[in-house]
Amino acid sequence: MQSLKDAIRTIADYPKPGIQFRDVTTLLGDARAFRQAVDAMVQPHAGAKIDKVAGIEARGFILGGAVAHQLSVGFVPVRKKGKLPHTTLSQSYELEYGVDEVEIHTDAVAPGETVLLVDDLIATGGTAEAAIRLLRQAGANVIGASFVVDLPDLGGARRVEALGVPCVSLVAYEGH
Ligand code: PRP
Ligand code: MG
Repeated sequence: MQSLKDAIRTIADYPKPGIQFRDVTTLLGDARAFRQAVDAMVQPHAGAKIDKVAGIEARGFILGGAVAHQLSVGFVPVRKKGKLPHTTLSQSYELEYGVDEVEIHTDAVAPGETVLLVDDLIATGGTAEAAIRLLRQAGANVIGASFVVDLPDLGGARRVEALGVPCVSLVAYEGH
């Protein structure tokens, strides 16, 4: 997956000093890399029974939408608080400073539906964990979580797997 890594831009000291920001907009803008990433996210699940893909706002919408389309299944947006118009389920999660909240519509999944969770990147896993809790609250069976980028030092994949959700990521940056 070196070609995918080459397509991801690293911005030093963004959004604050000491952070190496992994910018997937360059991958998304590169037709071959975008295709390769979506194919690789779909591949482990080819033949599996997946009813829906859930993508996490904002960058998870782009990848999750493409993955859903390729699997010919529906898409569930996991949105930041206050954006969804119908009745919602909410789950808060911790940020480095403070808390945030994600929501889904109460009827976004039917009980028993199998769902694949997609986001661009997993760091601490707080966002993914909140999304998994929401989907489960709605009755979904979350069968996996797929990310383009993993920052393994932050432990997110372990955290998601501890919830019983197998995690796949395409590239990893040690020492984030
Ligand atoms: C980033 C990234 C993941 C999340 C990972 O999103 O796109 O969604 O952080 O962090 P975690 O594993 O520590 O929870 P961000 O919240 O910056 O929002 P965006 O996708 O809307 O830009
Ligand atoms: Mg995000």
